[in-house]
Amino acid sequence: MRLQGKIALVTGASHERGIGRGIALALAQAGADVACSDIGFEDQGEQLAALIRDLGQRSMFVRADVSDRTDVDELIEQVETTLGPLDIACSNAGTADWEAFHEISDASLEKIVGANLTGAFNVGQAAARAMARSERDGRIVFTSSVHVQMGFPSMAVYGATKQGVRALAEHMAIELAPIGILVNHIGPGWVKSQLNDNSPGLQTEEDEAATIELIPIPRPSEAIDQGHAVVYLCSEEAGYVTGEFLRVDGGFVVGKY
Ligand SMILES: NC(=O)c1ccc[n+]([C@@H]2O[C@H](COP(=O)([O-])OP(=O)(O)OC[C@H]3O[C@@H](n4cnc5c(N)ncnc54)[C@H](O)[C@@H]3O)[C@@H](O)[C@H]2O)c1
Repeated sequence: MRLQGKIALVTGASHERGIGRGIALALAQAGADVACSDIGFEDQGEQLAALIRDLGQRSMFVRADVSDRTDVDELIEQVETTLGPLDIACSNAGTADWEAFHEISDASLEKIVGANLTGAFNVGQAAARAMARSERDGRIVFTSSVHVQMGFPSMAVYGATKQGVRALAEHMAIELAPIGILVNHIGPGWVKSQLNDNSPGLQTEEDEAATIELIPIPRPSEAIDQGHAVVYLCSEEAGYVTGEFLRVDGGFVVGKY
């Protein structure tokens, strides 16, 4: 129960196969009270909050669009009013499209930048303001990606936003450490979440087998693998870690290159 007494928020937490659910459950298993948020899958978000309450922790679900600053400010306000001052913010919401570079639409650009980069900024800034206001030490963890270290075809906008999240996390880490807020990001490898359901390289069992061959630990990541990494970054043991990228990819990046 390394995080007993801590109040946490996880965005993009609803979907039952998603990384956010793994993060939320790992934080709750470590003793934190966890607010879950998402723009969709509200039934699954409410179920997750109920699951966390079954674990003995307080929880709530709040619908919010992270690309909308007003939504994010209201989200943080609701969490603090209901659960108490925020200690941990996990900015995990994200989205992806697979499109050849010369065919990327304005709508796709706006959606991906809005959720992945503007969303990370909105959640990071609102969380930092709340933590500074309550004069509490805090932890902010972004979900970036292995895209921080390598490119993939037909994912230019997604990759650019994830590299943007890396820059955001590093700049925030420098500015916020003096007031006790540590900022890091995790880099999941392949998780079989709904985000990947449209991935052209993961449509068949043969596709999946070929992907597994590229991973030194030969399996996809479970969402909870990502959650355990987040718990570490939010723990006392990580009290001297900030501006860091913790890749949780089964060795995919080092195995590929
Ligand atoms: N699945 C992978 O292999 C993988 C690998 C690396 C990084 N990631 C990142 O992990 C994070 C979680 O993705 P996932 O794979 O669990 O997929 P997911 O689709 O299950 O989770 C993403 C969640 O974000 C929500 N969301 C999208 N736009 C939003 C918005 N504007 N406001 C609020 N919520 C919004 C979605 O509704 C969804 O529930 C994302 O940031 C993604 O980029 C995923």
